[in-house]
Amino acid sequence: MAADTRLAQWRERIEIRLADCLPSPARMPHRLHEAMRYATLGGGKRMRALLVYAAGDLFGADPALLDAPAAAVELVHAYSLVHDDLPAMDDDALRRGNPTVHVAFDEATAILVGDALQTRAFELLSEAPAPAALRVAWLQALARASGSAGMCGGQAIDIEATGSVLPLAQLEQMHTLKTGALIRAAVRLGALAGDAPQADLERLDDFAGALGLAFQVRDDILDVEASSAQLGKTAGKDAAQRKSTYPALLGLDGARAKLDELAQTMRRALQADDERADPLRALAEVTVQRSH
Ligand code: IPE
Ligand code: IPE
Ligand code: MG
Ligand code: MG
Ligand code: MG
Repeated sequence: MAADTRLAQWRERIEIRLADCLPSPARMPHRLHEAMRYATLGGGKRMRALLVYAAGDLFGADPALLDAPAAAVELVHAYSLVHDDLPAMDDDALRRGNPTVHVAFDEATAILVGDALQTRAFELLSEAPAPAALRVAWLQALARASGSAGMCGGQAIDIEATGSVLPLAQLEQMHTLKTGALIRAAVRLGALAGDAPQADLERLDDFAGALGLAFQVRDDILDVEASSAQLGKTAGKDAAQRKSTYPALLGLDGARAKLDELAQTMRRALQADDERADPLRALAEVTVQRSH
């Protein structure tokens, strides 16, 4: 089956799974549950979930086994966006084409939405229909990628660096943590479900490391090049807030050259794979070329 068809199927699958795993707004506390659904459903490219399915599929994992990690990583991602948009962080009013959670609801609710989405993610993994050893490996991978050695750590560096221009090595470190860690975890969660041998886990990690960094470099470029309508979030915010980014340090051409380099690294990492790696190749392509 063509890579595009597979990706479309997985996209449909994750929307259903996400809607199913979130508490109903009919249940108390109604407003929190409504806001959790608002933050998660009806938008988002679902890149991280697609990476779980694509990496798992490469090693023959059943999609039914991949549903829980695919949903869990999207829940952590959705939580990270809700908190990223808070006034204390990037202070953004627009996300996925709609008012951000703290604008549509209120700040306290947005904080609680992030907290509750994060804990729901780990609960989902703990109760997944999978062997206990796999569940523990998933929990560990996602926890490490989300915490101070991963996404939260990168966000902390981002906030500290606001107003200054980080040198290249530190900028790369920040991006690798704030965005790369969760993307790497997505690939690892899928590969673990497929019981991939250690050597394959490492090879895929080279791919995922480049992909995670490329994803944020492209995000930085789009913040300069694209419109808010195109992005569904406020364009031009990085320069306005004096964020440390690739275009700020290297210019747009330098940032694009970095993307080309990362695209080559990704191609090399999957060089020996047959067409079963085509969905991963397609996701790499989308990451480098995406326009929103
Ligand atoms: C946005 O992520 C935040 C970054 C890590 C750059 P996405 O571009 O994947 O956001 P959605 O999920 O598609 O809205
Ligand atoms: C966000 O980076 C990274 C995380 C949410 C962890 P950005 O602040 O650049 O993301 P956008 O541009 O608001 O989506
Ligand atoms: Mg941010
Ligand atoms: Mg932001
Ligand atoms: Mg951004």
